[in-house]
Amino acid sequence: MNTIEAIKGRRSIRRYKTNVTVPREHMKQILEAAMMAPSACNTRPWEFVVVESRQVKEQIMRAMPYTQMLQTAPAAIVVCGRPKVQELVCPGFWPQDCGAAVENMLLAAKELGYGTCWCGCYPLEKRVEEMQRILEVTSIPLAVVAIGEADEAPEARGFFDEARVKYL
Ligand SMILES: Cc1cc2nc3c(=O)[nH]c(=O)nc-3n(C[C@H](O)[C@H](O)[C@H](O)COP(=O)(O)O)c2cc1C
Repeated sequence: MNTIEAIKGRRSIRRYKTNVTVPREHMKQILEAAMMAPSACNTRPWEFVVVESRQVKEQIMRAMPYTQMLQTAPAAIVVCGRPKVQELVCPGFWPQDCGAAVENMLLAAKELGYGTCWCGCYPLEKRVEEMQRILEVTSIPLAVVAIGEADEAPEARGFFDEARVKYL
C-alpha cells in the first residue's frame, strides 16, 4: 500500500475484532511513525501512553464519552503534549506537532492492516484533567487513538472541494 492509498482508504473505525490483539512489534512500528512526524524546531513535544488494560479503557470511556469504541478495541495510544520542552524556542506549536504525530500513526496502522479512531481530548479542560489523573501523567492528553483489527468496513470516500482552494 502506498501513502496515497493509505490516506484515501483510511476511515474511522468504531467496531473491532475482540479476539485480535496488536503485537508489541506492530505497536512499536506505529509509535516509531508517530515520532518521525515533523515538529516545530524539531522539539518533538510528545509522549505516548499505550493502554491495553480493560480497567484503564473503562476509565477512559467514562472520562471521554465519545470513546465507546474502546469496548471492542484491543488497545489505544494516548498522545500527550509536553509544551514545556519547546517553551524557550518555539512556544505554542505543540498541538500541531502532536496532530502530525497522530496522523502518522493512523496511516502507519492502516499500512499494517489495522483500523483506528482519533478521539479528541485537548482542549477540553475537564477531559484533560480527568485523563491526566487516569494515566498518571503531567503532560497534556491531546488525543486517544483506538487501534485494532476492524470489524466493520466503512466505504472510502473523498471530500476534495476545488472551492476551498485558492491558487496565487
Ligand atoms: C480532533 C478530532 C477529534 C475526534 N474525536 C472523535 C471522538 O471523540 N470520537 C469519535 O468517534 N470520533 C472522533 N473523531 C473522528 C471524526 O469523527 C472522523 O475523523 C470524521 O467524522 C471523518 O470520518 P473518517 O475519519 O472516517 O474519514 C475525531 C477526529 C478528530 C480529527
